[in-house]
Amino acid sequence: MGNSWSPESWQKLEAAQQPDWGKSDGYTKILSEISKYPPLVFAGEVRALKQQLSDAACGNGFLIQGGDCAETFGDFRADSIRDKLKILLQMSVILTYGASCNVVKLGRIAGQFAKPRSTNTEMRGGIELPSYRGDAVNDIEFIEKSRIPNPKRLLRTYNQSAATLNLLRAFTTGGFADLNKVHIWNQEFIAQSPQGKRYEKIAQSIDDALTFMQAVGISSENTSALKLTEFFTSHEALLLGYEHSLTRMDSLTEKWYSCSAHFLWIGDRTRQPNGAHVELLSGVDNPIGVKVGPSITEDELLSLCEKLNPNNEWGRLTLITRMGADEIRSKLPPLVRAINDGGQKVLWVCDPMHGNTYKSETGYKTRHFDTILEELEHFFAIHHAEGTIPGGVHFELTGDNVTECMGGAREISDSDLGSRYETACDPRLNNEQSLELAFLITDLLRNGK
Ligand code: PEP
Ligand code: CO
Repeated sequence: MGNSWSPESWQKLEAAQQPDWGKSDGYTKILSEISKYPPLVFAGEVRALKQQLSDAACGNGFLIQGGDCAETFGDFRADSIRDKLKILLQMSVILTYGASCNVVKLGRIAGQFAKPRSTNTEMRGGIELPSYRGDAVNDIEFIEKSRIPNPKRLLRTYNQSAATLNLLRAFTTGGFADLNKVHIWNQEFIAQSPQGKRYEKIAQSIDDALTFMQAVGISSENTSALKLTEFFTSHEALLLGYEHSLTRMDSLTEKWYSCSAHFLWIGDRTRQPNGAHVELLSGVDNPIGVKVGPSITEDELLSLCEKLNPNNEWGRLTLITRMGADEIRSKLPPLVRAINDGGQKVLWVCDPMHGNTYKSETGYKTRHFDTILEELEHFFAIHHAEGTIPGGVHFELTGDNVTECMGGAREISDSDLGSRYETACDPRLNNEQSLELAFLITDLLRNGK
């Protein structure tokens, strides 16, 4: 944070990917309203996450960050929130059990409502309308009225995020995430599949261990570590007005925090070192992520580190690389070396989704399981070769049985994509594909030990 930082200093800089909110004063009024609302997360929780990320960056833990590409107002049900939590808990148990490492659980949830777009408008059948930018901004329906940005949607974003967080907190502190519940996280529709059965074996071994521990007096009543209560939230900090309205000072430490989520990241399209997004997040004390795509230069990356982590603190900065399986081998090693030579303290995370998107023959935006795995394998191999730490993964996934990404054990094919293609934006791994990847990542982690 430079000396000139204030919660408003971003307003003087170029801000990419902002919706045109129109000229009415509705937008400003709504933001001033939200700025009086309570924070969604608390500084103490944010500090706890930062500590866990710091441990992961040093090799004592592993981050799983995952959830929808875009949450929607339409899919706002207790079941779907619970199922997203379940799949992240299952993945973390697989890794903890298989690779003996502590897993940091970070949802792309309770705030992931805004999307950067490659074009400002979308053309269909000769009609041009503003692009869909996420439910926080406009509606996906292709009619003019729906596509005009509506600031009232920011109120709904705040409220839905609050209600989602409330349920997540109830699940995690109310016992649903206790280790003795490992069996009920396995959903019925998957229990008989090879992945479900493989998971069930781990769950059984954990049960046996818990029974033994109970016999010697250790249970979740007296040992909080068995409760897995620590679950955190994250989203892309895209809409600067909204993020600004939730930027608050912690009365205890007098530091500024972004209170819309525990962890915020800057997208690959908005990471200009002198841009408004970097400026706003440079002054808050949360752990911050930056998506790092193939177009970045070493100098740009280093200046981002200087701006976003001037005190070179462990846990502050996470670099989420998303190069694509084809490019990672040529693009990642020079960046890793530049960071190493500069002595920058960062957590390296792999997003094997966003560099591997393509249009299938039947016209669906998809990703192939094998390509996702391939990028992950290269990510681990490169970090092992460079002597750095592959510290986590970032997935777009859902607890449901959708058909959006191809491949995996069930070999979802192009002709299957149409049966349950439900995403509002990018294709997500389904429940079974997510479990399968967790098992494969366990192998990659074990090989590195
Ligand atoms: C995303 O995570 O949904 C996204 C848009 O990613 P990126 O900024 O890496 O393109
Ligand atoms: Co996406």
